[in-house]
Parts: sequence; structure tokens; C-alpha cells
Amino acid sequence: MSTHIGAAPGEIAETVLLPGDPRRAKWAAETFLENARLVSEVRGMLGFTGTWKGNPVTIHGSGMGMPSLSIYVNELIRDYGARTLIRIGSCGAMQEAVRIRDVVLAMTASSLSTPSRGVFRELNFAPCADWGLLRSAADAAAASGTPFHVGGIYSSDVFYDERPDLNQQLTRHGVLAVEMETAELYTLAARHGRRALAVLTVSDHLLTHEALPAEDRERSFGAMVGIALAAAFA
Ligand code: HPA
Repeated sequence: MSTHIGAAPGEIAETVLLPGDPRRAKWAAETFLENARLVSEVRGMLGFTGTWKGNPVTIHGSGMGMPSLSIYVNELIRDYGARTLIRIGSCGAMQEAVRIRDVVLAMTASSLSTPSRGVFRELNFAPCADWGLLRSAADAAAASGTPFHVGGIYSSDVFYDERPDLNQQLTRHGVLAVEMETAELYTLAARHGRRALAVLTVSDHLLTHEALPAEDRERSFGAMVGIALAAAFA
């Protein structure tokens, strides 16, 4: 057990998928893993461990936002020895060419701040994805016929944004999409020498104001989980 994860030692796999939503962790584990079993439910943040094509995998919720993700990822790495950490989550598109349901593979993540701000102080650290995972995820997305984009994203501190001018600058600079976790995931992976990637599904569009209908969400999110698993074990 760690402070926020109830799993016994050895109950967390070296490969961990991280959806923000604990119920999506349950759905992904039941849909994609064999012999999935609940290994943690501290504060209702569900974690499941099973196998995918014989490979041990844990799917554990991260919560929303970088401070929450930072708690779980620190404990998964320090206390359970996680080596490959892949965020599977939703994002809001910031480019016309990025459509609802498309998959975004985050090469890097801009931010105003992260929980690691205190470490870097005046330095603007550039968090980046693990190249091997990114390449394998792009191959898996192409093989599955899923429309996908590879490039920079924005990890925001807020969902209810008071700075439309900032989003305009990010769009102008080619940033593909906004979410709230990846910059800190990549920073923690870099700090501890682990592999990380974010595989995201576009759930809403900041320019067209479209949104994924609730009934479409599971089917659309399935492509992202398949790509993440294929990349982890390529
Ligand atoms: N903003 C921040 N995070 C998000 C969004 C958004 O519009 N959509 C999905 N995650």
C-alpha cells in the first residue's frame, strides 16, 4: 500500500494505463484485459490489474488535473515500480483539421505551470513523449485506420478558461488540443527515467463547439485504449 493506492506489493503491473475517470478505468479493464481484478479503490479512484495478450497491465484512474495525476504517478513509480505510463483521456481540439473522435498523440505539452514548477523555477522545461512509445502508437493508429494527429498539446490548469487570448495564441502556434494532465506526466517520467505517452480522444472542439454525444463515447474511446496497449507492447 502507498498513501493513495491500496494495492499490495506486486499487484501493480510495470505497464500502467491512466484514464482520468475511475469508471473509465473499470470499463477499459473489463473490455480489454483478461482476468482483470480490482486492486485499489482508495477515495473511489479505481485501479484494476489483468493481462493483455498475456502481458500484465494495470489500468488506474489519475483524477482530473495535474495535481491529482502527480499523486498517483509519483506513487506508481516510487512505490510500485511502474515503468511505462500511458495516459488515455479526452481532449478539446484547437485546430480545424482535428475532428471529434480523432486520436491525438502528444509529442510535447505546453503549460502555464505544473506541480513541478517549484523544481524548475525560472526554467521552462519542455516535457516530451517517449519516442519509442510515440512511434509505436502512430504505427498502431495507422494500422487500425483511426484518424490521428501527432504534435504539441496544451496542459491547462483550468477547464473553465478565462483567457481566450491564450487559446488563440496556442491555436496560432499549431497546438492540436487542450487537456489537463500530460505536461506533468511527461515531467515525472523524465525525472524518474520511465516511459510515458498520452493517447487522447477528441471529445469536444474549441473552434466549432461540437461535442461527442454521450452514447458515442465508449466506442470512440475504445480505439484509444487499443492504440495505447499496442504501443506499450510493440
Ligand atoms: N479543456 C480542458 N480539458 C479538456 C477539454 C477542454 O476543453 N476537453 C477535454 N479535456
